[in-house]
Amino acid sequence: MTLLSLHDVSVHFGSLEVLSHVNLEIAEDDFIGMIGPNGGGKTTLVRTLLKALPYTGEVRYGSALEENGIRRIGYLPQFTEIDRSFPISVQEVVLSGLQSRKRLFGRYATTDKQRVSELLHLCGIEALEHRPLGTLSGGEMQRTLLCRALISNPKLLILDEPTNFVDNRFEETLYALLRRLNHEMAILMVSHDLGTISSYVRTIVCVNRHVHRHNSNIITSEQLHNYHCPIQVITHGDVPHTVLARHKE
Ligand SMILES: Nc1ncnc2c1ncn2[C@@H]1O[C@H](COP(=O)(O)OP(=O)(O)O)[C@@H](O)[C@H]1O
Ligand SMILES: [Mg+2]
Repeated sequence: MTLLSLHDVSVHFGSLEVLSHVNLEIAEDDFIGMIGPNGGGKTTLVRTLLKALPYTGEVRYGSALEENGIRRIGYLPQFTEIDRSFPISVQEVVLSGLQSRKRLFGRYATTDKQRVSELLHLCGIEALEHRPLGTLSGGEMQRTLLCRALISNPKLLILDEPTNFVDNRFEETLYALLRRLNHEMAILMVSHDLGTISSYVRTIVCVNRHVHRHNSNIITSEQLHNYHCPIQVITHGDVPHTVLARHKE
């Protein structure tokens, strides 16, 4: 079933066309790795999926993704807008992912707080529940924000370069966790490192002003060339490795 579809979507910043005539569908069981060069429009595409910036064309949510005006998308942004000096605990940050519910009931339920504990445990930061935000490392902050993205039980989880601030030890834990979560939700993960994600994702979406969906986690240099895709070529052998190649637009 289709969760979300883009039809002929373009995004401009002033005279700069950042996304050009994009068509894309995301299904409920997708596990997508989104790749592309810096400045290629990945974050812009993510924010377009969230309808968080002006665009032309159509962004359509399926009924599983938006019910009674409640949008079931979990989002881990590339850069957080949260003010770290704000006196708020890890638990409260995660609960803030429930805002639409809180408005209905006025306060958080005990079950919501239990869910926070479960998620913190899942991400290996259960000891931080009552820590103030300002004391967290970059990686701990990222895990906290992942818990916040998950607390509303989304149908689509979007992570924009989640491993940027994460230590290597958590990176593998994160991928294993995403694989498990993928039984319940679609996952779209932005990364500039195709080499690492290619063994986890099933689909690769290349973004460089134009957007191409490859329904495979293997792309050949020929395909990249034909699709005017920008970056890496990956081959799977006994030893996985990545060959860098650039193509003229
Ligand atoms: N709010 C904005 N105003 C003007 N230009 C922007 C804005 N956001 C992004 N851009 C430009 O759009 C292009 C794509 O940026 P972005 O989507 O962040 O790329 P990526 O995430 O692939 O690195 C870049 O050239 C960037 O400078
Ligand atoms: Mg980006």
